[in-house]
Amino acid sequence: MWQLTEKQLDLQARARAVATEVVGPRAAEVDRTESYPWENVEALREAGMTGMTVPAEFGGPGHSFLDAVLVVEEMAKQCGVTGRIAVEANMGAISAIMAYGTDDQRRLAAGLVLDGDKPAICITEPGAGSAASMMTTRADRRGDGYVLNGKKHWITGGGVSRLHLVFARVFDEHGEEEGIGGFLAIRDETPGLVIGRREPTMGLRGIPETEVLFEDMAVGADMVLMPPSGFGRGFAELMNSYNSQRVGAGTVALGLATGAYERALAYTKEREQFDRPIAEFQGVQWMLADMSIRLEAARSLTYRAADSHGPDGSPFPDPTLAAQAKVFTSENCIDVANDALQLFGAAGYSRNNPIERICRDVRMFTIGGGTAQILRTVVAARILDMKLPQTRDGFQRLADRS
Ligand code: FAD
Ligand code: COA
Repeated sequence: MWQLTEKQLDLQARARAVATEVVGPRAAEVDRTESYPWENVEALREAGMTGMTVPAEFGGPGHSFLDAVLVVEEMAKQCGVTGRIAVEANMGAISAIMAYGTDDQRRLAAGLVLDGDKPAICITEPGAGSAASMMTTRADRRGDGYVLNGKKHWITGGGVSRLHLVFARVFDEHGEEEGIGGFLAIRDETPGLVIGRREPTMGLRGIPETEVLFEDMAVGADMVLMPPSGFGRGFAELMNSYNSQRVGAGTVALGLATGAYERALAYTKEREQFDRPIAEFQGVQWMLADMSIRLEAARSLTYRAADSHGPDGSPFPDPTLAAQAKVFTSENCIDVANDALQLFGAAGYSRNNPIERICRDVRMFTIGGGTAQILRTVVAARILDMKLPQTRDGFQRLADRS
């Protein structure tokens, strides 16, 4: 068992109280109406559970990623959407800005998240999903600032998030490419930041997934999030900061599946068939045992990844552990939620049962935040200490030979 400190246990208990009292009762409604749960955001904000990782000098409580993960897990046990809000209000873009930003940028971002904003992180494009480094959104130098053009899609929080961290390919005043950089934009303030079409999703329906377009979006030099080694290493350094959100994403899956497991555990003790609770059947017991084993393993790996640091003084979780944790957790949590539904029998297949929603919600996590396949290539490259380019350079189709 991971040993949490007294303070962490207290934080976890406070998060559980907010989750069960405020968040849980609204979860079905949020899913049904596909509406962003602003009341839950307010409850998180009031409890000090947005902007948790913001250091004291910028007005935050300076919590660790592991602390944030404990809150995310409790929220997701009741509502996946609120779990995801807790991820992005505490990890991901906000941690990139806290690590790489100027003092003014940090003040700006801290003010927003402490006020309940969930920043959006804009990486994926229609032609560049797994191949994120092949993005085509461009930032052209104009005077002191940049003008951005391009399109992202599947951006979580499009239309509700205020702060946006946009990854773009950077070109100097002569049109020479310099690498990939991060640019800050604020909805309704930055001209040219346009929220596009909303995607109708299978699960996690209370949070919009939209296109985000940049139509001659002009940003001043003060809104450039400069990676520490400059644009040349920008992609690697921005992706390194993304490891915090990757761990957070896995945590939402963990919370969702734990919620499903706990409900199934209780149900098997109540539901009777053949004149005995179904929990007395060994076939059911072994399912429950396997579910608990998978969850404990996923929890240990997730907490360890959250508590880790990458090489060379990185303030972010270790890239290999973050990828390992997300692959293991997302895949096992899909299985656990599916088994929970099975244990409910027909009752699990009813839309009146939260398990149905959980199964739709949890399915996402082998995709968003880096697919399970891509993350395996990340792990393989690191354990083999090899560069494993995924482009076809150097490879030939047999049919092309002759
Ligand atoms: P593709 O890259 O087209 O992959 C299709 C399939 O091919 C996958 O199974 C993939 O694993 C496989 N594949 C591709 N390349 C390889 C390879 N080299 N080896 C083995 N298999 C491979 N993005 C953002 O930038 N910001 C967000 O806020 C955001 N939120 C999201 C929220 C949701 C609900 C979802 C579903 C996605 C979100 N995304 C977001 C996008 C997400 O990161 C991408 O969907 C993901 O990176 C995969 O890209 P793709 O969907 O284009 O799939
Ligand atoms: N943490 C730290 N460094 C990372 C990283 C991470 N998560 N992902 C990539 N890097 C570094 C690589 O180590 C490499 O550094 P190097 O130049 O020192 O070798 C550099 O970034 C480029 O990575 P590479 O693997 O060569 O890039 P690629 O073009 O082959 O693409 C990725 C691979 C990184 C794009 C792919 O693995 C990936 O993560 N895709 C998923 C995108 C995603 O998660 N989107 C989520 C949006 S919400």
